[in-house]
Amino acid sequence: MPGNLDTQARSILKENDLGGYTIPTRGLYPYQWNWDSAFVARGFQTFDPDRAWTEIETLFEGQWDDGMVPHIVFRKDDPSYFPGPSVWGTKQALPTSGHSQPPVVATVVRDIYEADREAGEARARALFPKILAWHRWFHRYRDPDGLGVVAVIHPWESGRDNTPDWDGPMQAVDTSNIKPYVRKDTSHVDPSMRPLKADYDRYLAIVDFGRSCGWDAARVARDCPFFVADPGMTFILLRADRDLLALAQAFGEDEAAQEIGEWIERAETGAIRHLWSDEVEGFVSRDLRKNKLMDGISSASFLSVYAGIADERTNAALARQFDRIAEKATYLMPSWDPEDSRFEHLRYWRGPVWAVVNSMIGRGLLEAGDFARAERIRADTARLIETSGFAEYYSPVTGAGAGGGAFSWTAAVWLFFARHEIPQG
Ligand code: GLC
Repeated sequence: MPGNLDTQARSILKENDLGGYTIPTRGLYPYQWNWDSAFVARGFQTFDPDRAWTEIETLFEGQWDDGMVPHIVFRKDDPSYFPGPSVWGTKQALPTSGHSQPPVVATVVRDIYEADREAGEARARALFPKILAWHRWFHRYRDPDGLGVVAVIHPWESGRDNTPDWDGPMQAVDTSNIKPYVRKDTSHVDPSMRPLKADYDRYLAIVDFGRSCGWDAARVARDCPFFVADPGMTFILLRADRDLLALAQAFGEDEAAQEIGEWIERAETGAIRHLWSDEVEGFVSRDLRKNKLMDGISSASFLSVYAGIADERTNAALARQFDRIAEKATYLMPSWDPEDSRFEHLRYWRGPVWAVVNSMIGRGLLEAGDFARAERIRADTARLIETSGFAEYYSPVTGAGAGGGAFSWTAAVWLFFARHEIPQG
């Protein structure tokens, strides 16, 4: 029942609010995460816009001097989480992790601002230069060769931690110097739903590398053993650049508008040139160290429409992929192709459905006028939440909820996306 779920969703956001910032879920993730907070803000906006602004503002308290907005802001040390602030060894006043996460913020800030310009004007104007500095950081340090695609230096930066996209490039990460450590994630949830130890060793090896170069962004971009252009990041940033451009125009920021316009142009051609695979018939990641395209379809492949790429050939191919996967999966959109041998329906980003990704794919389809596909993905998201609650993610095969429970971003997605049926035509 929607009314009841509305109440539950709001309570989850309120209960996970630790005072101006919201944690993803109790136990497993006790700090403020970057793109979680962006979606959470959009959820708050549906019933408490003032609190929505605060969520973004507290996230930016962790912004680095070079513009980067980190993927985790550690406000207090919580021994139930690993790797905590001392492992990252960053040098900012507020302890944080050492890399970023998908920049959904500009899109959400535009949404909140446009819903009530008068109430949001001062806060949106104050955030604008900070978001601009962050996007500039992405274009400078995650696309050092100006290809128009965004690389990640760590699987965690992509937000899609253990997607098969990273399997190949992660082989280049040497783990021989890793010291013994104790994982905490597997004490909170079933280990069969989490990344493997071999993945975790490599995650920590990259953190060691980053710390050893003082998290200097230019050095990291030049020497990190893992540097992979990600369709998820590329499309989310392209979309966010368009929304930042709209804000720049609303605020008369002409110089910034010019700069952002150039980023958009570069990404529009760069994404198709560097991330489209004719063999796969979809957008895939590219290992920039080996200059090698990956070989599978993930849910991020479907974000080009959300990014506003109006290219007939790629859009038609993606619609075919969507329909093929829709035939196979009981619930869309699996994070990995269910017909591929690497698919695992309950292991994190190797198959499960994530409500936040659905919300972006659905929004893109809706804006492109593809109402039927947008509604399929919206209705599947709603059914998952109705039958399995506000889980971290879901099996696309059985619909079972998995990972952490009472999850903030799933609650937010219910409020701003899943509960609203999309009219046809
Ligand atoms: C996991 C997810 C990531 C998310 C974080 C907190 O690491 O892969 O996308 O931001 O949990 O929910």
